[in-house]
Amino acid sequence: MQSYIAHTFLRPIFILIVTVSILPFCTAQFGGKAHPWMNPSLSPDERASMVVKEMTLDEKITLLHGTGQEGLSPVSPLAAQSNGGAGYVVGIPRLGIPGIQMSDAAYGVCVTSDNGRYSTALPANIGAAASWDLDAAYEYGSLIGRELRDLGFNMSLGGGVDLAREPRNGRTFEYTGEDPLLAGKMVGALMKGEQAQHVIGDLKHYALNDQESGRDAVNVNVDRRAARESDLLAFEIGLQDSHAAAVMCAYNRVNGDYACENKYLLNDVLKKDWNFKGFVLSDWGAAHSVAKASAAGLDHEEPGWVFYGDDLRKAVKAGKVPMAEVDDHVHRILWAMFASGVIDDPPRKAVVDVVGGFEIAQQIAEQSTVLLKNDHAQLPLDAAKVRSIAVIGPHADVGMISGGGSAQVDPPGGNAIMPRGQGWPKWQEHIWFPTSPLKAIRAKAPAANVQFDSGANPASAAALARTCEVAIVFVYQWESEGMDLDSLSLPEQQDDLVAKVAAANSHTIVVLETGGPVIMPWADQVSAILEAWYAGSHGAEAVANILFGDVNPSAKLPITFPKREADLPHRTVVQPPKATTDAENKGWQETAAGLPAFQVTYDEGLKVGYKWYDAENKPVLFPFGYGISYTTYSYSDLTVTPGQNPHVSFTLSNTGNRPGAEIAEIYASLPAAAAEPPKRLVGWSKVKLNGGESKDVTVEVDQKYLSIFNVEKDRWQLVPGEYMFLVGSSAQDLPLKETVSLK
Ligand code: BGC
Repeated sequence: MQSYIAHTFLRPIFILIVTVSILPFCTAQFGGKAHPWMNPSLSPDERASMVVKEMTLDEKITLLHGTGQEGLSPVSPLAAQSNGGAGYVVGIPRLGIPGIQMSDAAYGVCVTSDNGRYSTALPANIGAAASWDLDAAYEYGSLIGRELRDLGFNMSLGGGVDLAREPRNGRTFEYTGEDPLLAGKMVGALMKGEQAQHVIGDLKHYALNDQESGRDAVNVNVDRRAARESDLLAFEIGLQDSHAAAVMCAYNRVNGDYACENKYLLNDVLKKDWNFKGFVLSDWGAAHSVAKASAAGLDHEEPGWVFYGDDLRKAVKAGKVPMAEVDDHVHRILWAMFASGVIDDPPRKAVVDVVGGFEIAQQIAEQSTVLLKNDHAQLPLDAAKVRSIAVIGPHADVGMISGGGSAQVDPPGGNAIMPRGQGWPKWQEHIWFPTSPLKAIRAKAPAANVQFDSGANPASAAALARTCEVAIVFVYQWESEGMDLDSLSLPEQQDDLVAKVAAANSHTIVVLETGGPVIMPWADQVSAILEAWYAGSHGAEAVANILFGDVNPSAKLPITFPKREADLPHRTVVQPPKATTDAENKGWQETAAGLPAFQVTYDEGLKVGYKWYDAENKPVLFPFGYGISYTTYSYSDLTVTPGQNPHVSFTLSNTGNRPGAEIAEIYASLPAAAAEPPKRLVGWSKVKLNGGESKDVTVEVDQKYLSIFNVEKDRWQLVPGEYMFLVGSSAQDLPLKETVSLK
């Protein structure tokens, strides 16, 4: 595991006290005078322009930075007015502009226990992506948006959408997989749901922040075409679908410049090409300059004002940063506030709907859990018949693991593996949510003798398994911001545990609690495998519903599970020199000044995820898009109608007798002249079917997803020629094929 990064390590030490509600700043009337920009029938643009005209330079600068965070920047006394989230921006009461209260909110509102509050933990973002369900993603975002407001926040710092080029990235669980269309659509629906609750939404970390090791220094070398068609396309789609009002620029460098002072990324692509009207905020401590960053398009510095405070004021006065640039930054922040509704409809603190949250978290977990293997119809278990079950695995008696770092949601009552009321989450601690697989399984099979073994001693776990009809082994791999995985193998000899249990019981079921793919040397020896990801507040109940067939699994992998680690595009995660790690650990003065770059080169280019394994002919363990069900499906009668946006029609049948939902996937192979990897996902449809039922399905494929990015012309382009459309149930099971000419 990578070492801690000191500045983030220090975060929890800084516990802010909730002293001030943001409400007083939010009224439309001040001193009895109505501000003309408080008229909601004006456009956010008009309203923002009116406010900017009234502002002094000092007021403008106030909006361009946060109030600081211990360990990451100097801290202003005004930080005491923070609601206890990751960031606080002081408002302009004179003009009726509220402060911005930001909270991390990847899979739920983070670290609320610091304030004596509660929030729901949803399944990890990668799990939500596994549902391929836009409505579920919208629900996911809506729940976070509601809870943010209940907790007094008006801005979310969720919306992670860096593509999984490097599955050992410690933040894979916070992102939405390896395909730009799936990742972009899922994060787009999620953030749309969030912003619909009237909070400022955010997508992050823009861009190519694919490893945590040396993230303050690493320079990612990637060719523009590969970036535009993969990593940046995910952001582009996410923004287009959600209209997220903020984008967080990343820690790393991209092709030589830090992401937060990268003109190509910020001004050229995000603001000009994609017409993004909101604001760019730096990741915490990711700003590195005044004039360069401002000219490149960084609008706001977090968490403090190393650059965008006095130094910016001086630079403006000295004519080094034009006032027009400052006005544009301020306009964008105000635009985001008006457009998202946080001024017209400010949050009011309220009790979080705990029960409603559990229900939604469970439903999404049920839609996110992927059935990877089910030999001899081992699953679902029949509660009326099974007489003895061994539940095995670390902490499977009390909880399920969650993802760490700034995404960490606090478990109610504290970490489930600590005595109750003790052990509040600390940065980079393994946090187990109090959702007990053992209890959930006992509740499903009250007549069965259900016994537990922690697996600490594989031989004793195997001995228990030998005496039971069925063994269910819960294994985990923990991930967190601030580290990358040493390898994709399960830690703590869990491979040995599974192998020993499987050798003792031929009805062994493995439940994976991981943030991404793992290598499974025992895959052939067990009869069933479920990927539950980090399953959230009610994960165990969701898993039990799937194990016993109350829910028919319908999720599919948003990321390839390789056979061997050696098959990944890069043998290891490139590590920074020791001097860089030491400097990172010293704190913000070192990192703000910028650290010498070390290089990571994405020479796999366009071949991200399944495109790599396809192009390199490398067999995988479980392909992208794969996931099975308790029923079976068949595909027939493909027709492709060419046109601006081709229409792909086919018949999908449920050939079993259980109702289910099948994710039908559509891929396209581009003409040879396009020089692309063998195929790419261009659309999908999740279709509910009763046993024996068939439906005709039509999916319209956006021409953009069939196009390539022409770097010389700086635009998307359809290469005229023969396009093969392939339809089926995973990237490697595509029974229907039709070729059409497109131009
Ligand atoms: C993380 C961001 C997070 C921010 C505020 C940073 O260390 O990279 O994802 O939003 O901290 O907590």
